[in-house]
Amino acid sequence: MGNAQVLPFYITVCVVAFVISKIIIAVLLYRRWQRKHMIVQDSLTGTVSRGKLVMFRSSTMKSLKYDTFLKKIMKLSNKDIIGSGGYGTVYQMSINDSTAFAVKRLNRGSAERDKGFERELEAMGDIKHRNIVTLHGYYTAPHYNLLIYELMPKGNLATLLHDTDAGKSMDKKALDWPTRYKISLGVARGISYLHHDCIPHIIHRDIKSSNILLDKGMEARVSDFGLATLMAPDKTHVSTLIAGTFGYLAPEYFDTGKATAKGDVYSFGVVLLELLTGKKPTDEAFTEEGTKLVTWVKAVVEEKREELVVDSSLECCPADEIKHVFNIAMMCLESEPSKRPTMTEAVKLLVADKIRQSCNRLLIFTKYNFHFPSQTWLFHSLIHLSFQA
Ligand SMILES: Nc1ncnc2c1ncn2[C@@H]1O[C@H](COP(=O)(O)OP(=O)(O)OP(=O)(O)O)[C@@H](O)[C@H]1O
Ligand SMILES: [Mg+2]
Repeated sequence: MGNAQVLPFYITVCVVAFVISKIIIAVLLYRRWQRKHMIVQDSLTGTVSRGKLVMFRSSTMKSLKYDTFLKKIMKLSNKDIIGSGGYGTVYQMSINDSTAFAVKRLNRGSAERDKGFERELEAMGDIKHRNIVTLHGYYTAPHYNLLIYELMPKGNLATLLHDTDAGKSMDKKALDWPTRYKISLGVARGISYLHHDCIPHIIHRDIKSSNILLDKGMEARVSDFGLATLMAPDKTHVSTLIAGTFGYLAPEYFDTGKATAKGDVYSFGVVLLELLTGKKPTDEAFTEEGTKLVTWVKAVVEEKREELVVDSSLECCPADEIKHVFNIAMMCLESEPSKRPTMTEAVKLLVADKIRQSCNRLLIFTKYNFHFPSQTWLFHSLIHLSFQA
């Protein structure tokens, strides 16, 4: 080969090698993409769906295989439905005897919103708190999205409190006063975490008893946080023009249409009233009279007939504790937002009463049994703890 032929030969070899390497890389990338985006028969819509499943890292998820999980999702059908709401249908998905999820199907929003959709969901996946329902992952397909949550075995608070089915009467018995108090505190802690500890801070916008789910120990978990912002107004189930549910909305919301943390505080106050009275915020008895739970309770207080407020199915409950929670509810329901406590303050108020009672019991105990030298120190430590809660 002459010198004149060597250069074109090397150039040709280099170009061919370059093209082949690019082809190999493309094939490898495509294979990886295919593994992540399995094309499966989608029994939710009966079509072949090409979607993307994202599973957030957690102790629950790490033992689960991506492909098995995806196939389980695709097999969900009407018989797995456990409920439906304004955002869509909720399915129960059991992986094995000990692991189950709740899968919420949302109709797909516009393309523009979908860009932010995944970012929002990633942020929601980072939120881990004992009083907030964990988002374990999501699945996006061309016509719908699925949100994968941990399954709450005791369902939602609204059903337990208000479902009058004969079969559910046992559930209402499970809602004795200590359990209701525990739920109040759990909900307050969950919302307080969203308002004050999350960066950026999160306003729930749809606090209500059906969005309070209960785990197997009857610990409250706030659900559906972030959904009101994630979904377009026309896709929210909302009973108002903006977001939220009638009966739970703060009065200023109707004027400004702006969701605020103090609006969530008001809705929390309504949930406290539900726990105290056992009544629905928009009970038929109220709507017939053109009123609602909050207005009825305020009228009853004005007439000094507070005894009418307490749920008649609550047997032997501590009057002072009920009164204390009732006072906190009334503070949260102040018409003027600035007069309402923040959620952190609401938590402290709820905890402070428990601590005060424990201290009272301790003081009575020490008075009649033995002298406890660091009693004052203990009292102050307990108070200090309550303010750290
Ligand atoms: N993680 C979960 N675990 C168990 N059940 C759930 C879970 N998420 C939702 N559910 C149940 O699914 C049903 C529908 O929930 P969904 O949130 O769609 O509607 P909703 O709360 O009634 O109204 P909204 O659409 O305003 O939130 C409810 O009965 C709820 O208890
Ligand atoms: Mg809900």
